[in-house]
Amino acid sequence: MTPYGDGTRCVRAGLPSPRPGQPFLPGPVFASAYHLDPAAGPMPGVDGYGRPDNATRRALEAAIGELEGGECVAVASGMAAVTAALLLLTRPGDTVLVPADGYYRTRSFAAEALPPRGVRVLTAPTAGPYPPLDGVRLVLLETPANPGLDVCDISALAARAHAAGALLAVDNTTATPLGQRPLDLGADLVVASGTKALAGHADLLLGYVCTRRPDLAAAIRDWRDTTGSIPGPFDCWLAHRSLATLDLRLARQTANAAALAALLANRPDVRSVRWPGLPTDPAYPLASRQMRRVPGCWRSNCRRVSTCGDSSRPPGSSPWPRPSVAPTPRPTGAPSGATTPPKGWYASPVAWRTPRIWSPTWPPRSMPPPATDHDRCSCRQRAVRPRARCRT
Ligand SMILES: Cc1ncc(COP(=O)(O)O)c(C=O)c1O
Repeated sequence: MTPYGDGTRCVRAGLPSPRPGQPFLPGPVFASAYHLDPAAGPMPGVDGYGRPDNATRRALEAAIGELEGGECVAVASGMAAVTAALLLLTRPGDTVLVPADGYYRTRSFAAEALPPRGVRVLTAPTAGPYPPLDGVRLVLLETPANPGLDVCDISALAARAHAAGALLAVDNTTATPLGQRPLDLGADLVVASGTKALAGHADLLLGYVCTRRPDLAAAIRDWRDTTGSIPGPFDCWLAHRSLATLDLRLARQTANAAALAALLANRPDVRSVRWPGLPTDPAYPLASRQMRRVPGCWRSNCRRVSTCGDSSRPPGSSPWPRPSVAPTPRPTGAPSGATTPPKGWYASPVAWRTPRIWSPTWPPRSMPPPATDHDRCSCRQRAVRPRARCRT
């Protein structure tokens, strides 16, 4: 890793050296099929054909490879990365071990697509115990696992897998390369979805495989180029642009998750909270040793609605205890002690969510009336005739 902090590494990853007059991140190269080289004449030149070669994709691969600490092959989605590893690295007669509590598509793919190809599938919970790995060809871990957020010891399992002659792949989607670097911990491969935290704007699908073994990188690249599971140039460009803010986004997500997990853990109507950064979480000791930062996802289970909250509340009323925040002030002119909310009151989403200011019948039995022009304006007619058209 370079001596720079995470923020600088993200901002600089995969970028060419700055040149006066040139953008820091070169624009996307869109030539989707043949890219003719004007210097060499009407023949495909560098990046001649878009499936195996694209300059924008290479720049993104350089960036992710830098953050993960290996050679990166970008693919069309996280599942393209997972299935490439599972299909390419196994032969009939092999055994793979997959998480019993990991991403459900990975589990269903392993259970449905591998046995008909003669590949035996074992499962183990992320937090263990793990079966003996003798005869296993590939161990796929997901840590923290989605959605359970259990964590497993990558170094220990890498040692066990290698002693048994198996390869170890780690799905690093939830952690991201800023959260943990599985290749540093002994994994042979990282598979991940860049669709989620890595790109972070919910505007593209992306996956990648990273490895330090040139033979594996070449095999995965060849698989990608042959199956055509390539991400488009514009998605690659967007993802590369989005990487620059990864450090900041993760920092805020983690801070939010910490606050919410602590808040939820103390609520009587929440049965359990899982977040590997909570000191009371079973994954905390391992996560704080293994991970560089804890992701911004947490999981909580509620108690049955009919048994939670204030036992003295009337049947059918809100199960949630009153919020401790100060209520929104009453709109001017509204009658105090009204038994129903004043006209137009529900129309404001902020007001609508503020419980028990107006009436003992909160929460409202029906949804608020649809927004009207007055609802969107701030004129004086709004409180009186919320459904009329605004002419001001
Ligand atoms: C852990 C994990 N792996 C893989 C995937 C699949 O990623 P994609 O949706 O980009 O195919 C997901 C998606 O949520 C995931 O959470």
